[in-house]
Amino acid sequence: MNPSNPPQTAEYGGVTIHPSSLEHLLTYVASRLDEVSAIVLDPGYSTTRAGFAGEDAPKSLIPTYYGKYNADGQEKLIFGDDVFVTPRPGLSVHNPIGRDGIVEDWDMAEKVWEYSFTSRLTGAKASDPFHNGLNEIPSEELPTEMEVEADEKPLADSPLLMTEPGWNPAKAREKTIEIAMEKWGTPAFYLARNGVLSAFASGKASALVIDIGASNISITPVHDGMILKRGVQHSPLGGDYISSQIQAFSKTAVEAGQPPQAKYKTFPADKAPDASYRSLLEERTISEFKECVVQVWAGPNKLSATGPNGVSNEEVARTTPGRPFEFPDGYNQVFGVDRFRVTESLFDAKAAIPDPDSPFPAPTPSQTLPELIKASLAAVDVDLRPHLLANVVVTGASSLLYGFTDRLNHELMALYPGPRVRISAPGNTAERRFGSWIGGSILASLGTFHQMWISKKEYDEHGPNIVEKRCK
Ligand SMILES: Nc1ncnc2c1ncn2[C@@H]1O[C@H](COP(=O)(O)OP(=O)(O)OP(=O)(O)O)[C@@H](O)[C@H]1O
Ligand SMILES: [Mg+2]
Repeated sequence: MNPSNPPQTAEYGGVTIHPSSLEHLLTYVASRLDEVSAIVLDPGYSTTRAGFAGEDAPKSLIPTYYGKYNADGQEKLIFGDDVFVTPRPGLSVHNPIGRDGIVEDWDMAEKVWEYSFTSRLTGAKASDPFHNGLNEIPSEELPTEMEVEADEKPLADSPLLMTEPGWNPAKAREKTIEIAMEKWGTPAFYLARNGVLSAFASGKASALVIDIGASNISITPVHDGMILKRGVQHSPLGGDYISSQIQAFSKTAVEAGQPPQAKYKTFPADKAPDASYRSLLEERTISEFKECVVQVWAGPNKLSATGPNGVSNEEVARTTPGRPFEFPDGYNQVFGVDRFRVTESLFDAKAAIPDPDSPFPAPTPSQTLPELIKASLAAVDVDLRPHLLANVVVTGASSLLYGFTDRLNHELMALYPGPRVRISAPGNTAERRFGSWIGGSILASLGTFHQMWISKKEYDEHGPNIVEKRCK
C-alpha cells in the first residue's frame, strides 16, 4: 500500500478486522475506539497546551520550562506551574525547545509533553483496556485468554494530534511520531502545522497566518488546508525578544538615575537557585507588564516618521495619556512614549533599543514583520496573493499587544495598496492564545478526518517516515 494514501477502512490501535473467532469482539472494540476523544497537543516555546478534541479550549496549560535540582544525591525534576513555586537551592530552569522553535532535548520534550496530558487529561496510566470504561463489554463476551499488556502506555486509548511549526525539519517530525507510537502507545497519530490549524480556527482553509509567539514570529501562507512551504518565513522577534527590549529599556532608565524597577529576594549563596530561575520569574513580571502597559504604535507610518502636519509621531505618542504599572516590589511608575519604543523594532529594525548584554543580537531589517510578509508573499503564486491578503489571520499571544493589528493593517495597506487587505484577529483572548490548539480540536473531531490518522499498524509497516508522506 502506498503510505501517502490513507487506508480505506480505518484501523485503530493495530486492530484489523478479519474473519476469526474474535471478529465480533474486534469490531466492537474498533467501533468503541472511534468514539474515544482524540487528544490534541500543541507544544509552544513558552507554554504547552493539551486537551480533548471537540472541546473549545485546552484543559491543560503548563509552562514548557521545567526545573532541575539535586536532593539526597539525586537529580529531581519539576514540571508544570510548580516550577514557579519554590526557589530550591541550585534549582535551574530549562526549556527542551530551542530559540528557533525546534526541539533540542528530546528526552525532556517527551517528559514535559507527557506531563501536559497525564497531569490533567489521561491521569495515571496502567489501566486494563477491557475494564477502563472505554470498552464496556459484557463480561461473558470478554476473551478469557487474551493477553492484556501489563505496563500500559499513557496514550494506549487515545488518538493523538500534535502541532508543529511550519519549519520543523523531517528528522524532528519522525522523532515526534516515534515518541507518540513507541513511548506513549497511541493507536493513531497525526502531525499538523500550527499555521494551518490557526487558519481552521478562524474558519478558513486558505489564509496568510501571522503568528506572534514567544520565541518566534512567523508567516504561513495556507492554501486549501495545506501550507505553501516555500512561503513560510520566521524570525526571532517574538514575545521573548520584546521582553529583552523592555529590559534594555529599563537599564537605560536606571542609568538615567531612576531607581531600579524590580528588586528580587536575595539568598545566601549556598541556598540560592540558579540565575535561570530568576530569569523565569523576571519574564513572568515582564509578561504582565506587556499585557498591561506596552503598546504598538498604531501607525500610519513608523514611530520615527513625521505626520503630514509636521508633527512627529513620537510627539503624538508622547501626548497620549501614560499607563501606570506597579512592580511586585511596590515600585510604580507611569509609562509614556517608552511603552511604544519597546515594540517598534518588530516593524522597524533601526528602532531597536541597543543592549550588548541581550541574548538577542540586534535585529536585521529582513527579520521585521513587513519584510517577512513581503518575502512570504513573493514566494507564492501571484494568483494566490490577493486571496491571501483578503484572509490575513492574526494569532499568538504576543499579537494581543495593544495597537498591534492596527499597525499591521497600516503596514499591509502601505505594502499592497491595490488588493483588498482584510485581517481577521479574534477579539476573544483565548482564541488568539490557543488558535492552533483550537484548530487541532476542530480538525481531529471532524468525521472526514478519520481517514487521515496514521494507525499504529501503518507506522509499524512503513516506519516513522510515513509522517512525511501523510502529514503534508
Ligand atoms: N496580552 C498580552 N500582550 C502581549 N504579550 C503577551 C500577552 N499575553 C501573553 N503575551 C506574551 O506572548 C508570548 C506567548 O505567546 P504564545 O503562547 O503564542 O507563544 P508559544 O506558542 O508558547 O511560543 P512559540 O509560538 O514561540 O513556540 C509570551 O512572550 C508572553 O509574554
Ligand atoms: Mg506558538
